[in-house]
Amino acid sequence: MNETLSPIKPPSGWEYHSTEKLALRGGRLFDPSAELDEQTDLIIEKGVILSIGAIPDGWNGEVVDVSGCLVCPGFFDMHVHFREPGFEHKETIRTGCTAAAVGGFTGVAPMPNTNPAIDNPGMVRFQQEQALGLPVDLFPIAAITTGRKGATLTEIGELRDVGVKVFSDDGSPLVSSEMMRHALEYTRMFNLVISEHCEDMSLTKGGVMHEGSVATRLGLPGMPSIGEEIPVERNIQLAEFTGGRLHIAHISTAKSLDLIRRAKDRGINITAEVTPHHLTLDCSLLEGYNADYKVNPPLRTVEDVEALIEGLADGTIDAIATDHAPHAPDEKEVEFISAPFGMIGLETAVGVVHTRLVSTGKLSLSRMVAAFSTAPRAIMGLHEVNLKVGQAANITLFNPDEKWMVDREQMLSKAKNTPFHGWKLTGRTRGVVNRGMAWIRK
Ligand code: DOR
Ligand code: ZN
Repeated sequence: MNETLSPIKPPSGWEYHSTEKLALRGGRLFDPSAELDEQTDLIIEKGVILSIGAIPDGWNGEVVDVSGCLVCPGFFDMHVHFREPGFEHKETIRTGCTAAAVGGFTGVAPMPNTNPAIDNPGMVRFQQEQALGLPVDLFPIAAITTGRKGATLTEIGELRDVGVKVFSDDGSPLVSSEMMRHALEYTRMFNLVISEHCEDMSLTKGGVMHEGSVATRLGLPGMPSIGEEIPVERNIQLAEFTGGRLHIAHISTAKSLDLIRRAKDRGINITAEVTPHHLTLDCSLLEGYNADYKVNPPLRTVEDVEALIEGLADGTIDAIATDHAPHAPDEKEVEFISAPFGMIGLETAVGVVHTRLVSTGKLSLSRMVAAFSTAPRAIMGLHEVNLKVGQAANITLFNPDEKWMVDREQMLSKAKNTPFHGWKLTGRTRGVVNRGMAWIRK
């Protein structure tokens, strides 16, 4: 791969800085993993953190004032859908990574439900190359089965050799328990992870929203909670039986959380993620038949939302991931029942979680930062990112006091299918530093 590809310019309103000699002045250095919380300067030289502390007299590098901002380990989104190859009209890797950077993410893991699916080393390399020149690390997730058809395992060892850490047929579940057993056994041999979309499609087929009183009132076919909980339980049992590394994607119900909590208490090596939308939105929002709220797993009840917040706060849920799922406007602007599932999330995730969970005292700032940064990297087995001298500078800058309004027309994603349009948020990403460059909002 040509790592020397020249840097791509940030979008308008953003400035590019080299990290040859760059000082971030006056920020609040905040790294829960290093127990660091201190207002001071941070100096980067040749892409590496050179020192922490006041900028020395005679420093002749560039200085950017980041006072008022948190300076955190770079955020990572371990569950996004970029649509290249196959559906570039929805999102490309370049537009997706740009949305990620603007949202504060220095790394992303795109799911393999492209066309063709990402199921061989050539496809992985193709995706990796599309992200060069951007301040965002791209770790493609490869399919568990060829073509995501559920029948034949992909070449897990060869995919590992090109950098794949996680396997998933996301968008679809692994229907066969036998296949899940083998997938966990093989990935275990290489220390790799299975991220599973837990859905029993015999229970959810035809459904378009959470099954319950709102669906009945709206006359829409439902997807019952047990459609998620039964496969969560099955997969926990298979993880226990095989000793494989299971990660449960986008959990949405209180019972799923409870199953995970009990499995963790029994010492089973599983992890879980939750999306910002399952932490903040519930199924009553579907009353207006707005397809921007149509997502899989569906928005659940207020009680589920509250349980998920608690589970994130107490560490039962390890990470926050967006499940950024771009779709074109004409695909979403159809009858609710025919619209595709999915909502975008990269540019709103941090602001939404900060506003609704941290500002309200439901989640500590350190849990939020860990769930966005160190946790997803640890789950994936990626190198640790922290704010220690000598480490490559991989940083998210975030202003917790900045107020702004979500405007889908301003978004950098190609898609506009956000349920957060018009939301007034407190807390906004100011910039990212990674791969020898910094993108900072003017
Ligand atoms: O809402 C969703 N959209 N859920 C998925 O599992 C897949 C995703 C997509 O690819 O659009
Ligand atoms: Zn999924």
